Amino acid sequence: MNTQLILLGAPGSGKGTQAARIVSEFGYTHISTGDLLRSEIAKESELGLRVKAIMAAGDLVSDDVVLELLKANCDIAKNLYLFDGYPRNIDQVEALHKNILSGFKSKALYFDIDLDILEKRVINRRVAPKSGEIYNLISRPSKVEGICDISGEELVHRKDDNVETVRNRLNIFKAEIEPILSYYESKGNLERIDALLAPDEIFENISKIIK
Ligand code: AP5
Repeated sequence: MNTQLILLGAPGSGKGTQAARIVSEFGYTHISTGDLLRSEIAKESELGLRVKAIMAAGDLVSDDVVLELLKANCDIAKNLYLFDGYPRNIDQVEALHKNILSGFKSKALYFDIDLDILEKRVINRRVAPKSGEIYNLISRPSKVEGICDISGEELVHRKDDNVETVRNRLNIFKAEIEPILSYYESKGNLERIDALLAPDEIFENISKIIK
C-alpha cells in the first residue's frame, strides 16, 4: 500500500463520506481543497476573503491559488495522501503530477453516478465542521435533529449547498471531467466506482482496490 489516491467525482457523489472511512481503515491522510479553502474563510485570512464569494457562487477558485494552498499543506515524502476535490480540470491534473506527485505512484478513483440525482443529495446534506461527520436529512439523518451524533456540535448547512449554486457546480463538473478521466485512463490509473450503491457497499469495493 504505497499508492497515493485521488478521489474524482461530482459534488455530492460521496467523496467526503468515503474519505472518512478510507482514512480510518487504511491510515491515509485526507487532503480536501474544499476543506482547506473553507478553513481560510473561517479564519478570515486574506486568501479566505478573496475566495469567499467565488465559493459561494460555486465557481472554481483559480488554479494558482489552490496549488499554492495544496503545496503548503502537503508533505508527500512523509504521507500517503487521499486527494479529495483536486484536481478539477486538466490544468490541475498536470500541475498535481508535475509539482506534487512526480516520482510517486498514484491511482484515481472515479465516483461514477447519474448527475441528475445529486442536486437533491447535496441540498439535504448537513455537516459537522469539527468532527467532520457528513449527514443527510433523507439518507443519513442525525439522531437528534441538527446535532452531530459524535461531537454534539450543531450541524451546518454549507453556504454553497443551495439549488442555484449546486446547479452551477454540477455544470462546471460536466464541462471539466472528460479530459481528466481520459488522462487517467490513458495511464491505466483509473478505477470507476459505482457511487449509486449504499455507502457500505461502496467502501467494500474501494477497500478491494486499495488492498
Ligand atoms: P468541495 O468541498 O470539494 O465540494 P465538492 O467537490 O463540490 O464535493 P462535495 O463536498 O459537495 O461532495 P462529496 O462528493 O464530498 O459528497 P459527500 O460525501 O459530502 O468544493 C467546494 C468549493 O470549493 C468548489 O465549488 C470550489 O469553489 C472550491 N474548490 C475546491 N477545490 C477546488 C479546486 N481544486 N479548484 C478550484 N476550486 C476548488 O456526500 C454528499 C451527500 O450525500 C451527504 O449528505 C451524504 O450523506 C450523502 N451520501 C454520500 N454517499 C451516499 C450514498 N452512497 N448514498 C446516499 N447518500 C450518500
